Amino acid sequence: MTILDGKKVSNEIQEEIALEVQKMKNNGEKVPHLAAIIVGNDGASLTYVNSKVRACKRVGFESSEYRMSSNTSELKLLAKIEELNKNDDIDGFIVQLPLPPQINTQKVLLAVDADKDVDGFHPTNFGKMSLDMSSFIPATPFGILELLERYDIPTKGKHTVVIGRSYIVGRPMSILMGRQGFPGNSTVTLTHEFTKNITQITSQADIIIIAVGIPHFLKAEMVKDDAVIIDVGITRVPDDSKPRGYRISGDVDFENVSKKASYITPVPGGVGPMTIAMLLKNTLLAKETHRAKQLQKD
Ligand code: GUN
Repeated sequence: MTILDGKKVSNEIQEEIALEVQKMKNNGEKVPHLAAIIVGNDGASLTYVNSKVRACKRVGFESSEYRMSSNTSELKLLAKIEELNKNDDIDGFIVQLPLPPQINTQKVLLAVDADKDVDGFHPTNFGKMSLDMSSFIPATPFGILELLERYDIPTKGKHTVVIGRSYIVGRPMSILMGRQGFPGNSTVTLTHEFTKNITQITSQADIIIIAVGIPHFLKAEMVKDDAVIIDVGITRVPDDSKPRGYRISGDVDFENVSKKASYITPVPGGVGPMTIAMLLKNTLLAKETHRAKQLQKD
């Protein structure tokens, strides 16, 4: 059994990006600039945005964070998005999800300029992704593809079972694994809360990608020998023995499933760090697109 070390791979990618940034600086070019909008005080969201901003600093990007109160109106958020769309200094930005209930998330995602949509959530990017066209790919699925690629895990003709159909992970993952090329060319089954006999399906899977947010949902008896297991779950479980009062739990019963798996991601240290690295990679791509557009204008 091999552990897919997302932390190590993420660090390697960040070093590669830092080198690119150094080259830009040496050429007298502006460095990539990522901005993040966060609405409200959700603890997990604040932590994620914080790690994204810190990662920007590590690789030499510029970053900006816009914090808005939890009672921000939809109109005010849309105005902030328009401001960032127009701001020529910002190459890409994200609106951290989830948003408070008074805000329509779909309207917000549509408002982001597709060329600055480094989360890859805008329908233009999502559509291009589905049509095998080049686009921003959502960071977590992009990170999973990168892990499969860097560990050279075969996907062609394999049965990939995705558990969970969220717009951020499950849905794009199910599309990406069936696309042409590598990683891809898989036969994909997308399962969700209404799927019947899930064990019958998962026990036939060569690759399982799970993102449901239910600690230890995937048990050893649901998995066949030598399956590849990708765990996207990161749930905070109360734990008084930890300094923060909680521990992070994945969606996989790692202790038992790892005994049967050929490859498996740990939690923490698996998919999580990859998400950050790929957001930086998308920002680097956004900067290149932005620069090409500016050169055309001049
Ligand atoms: N919330 C959980 N994951 C993500 C993500 O990848 N991007 C954004 N914007 N919000 C999230």
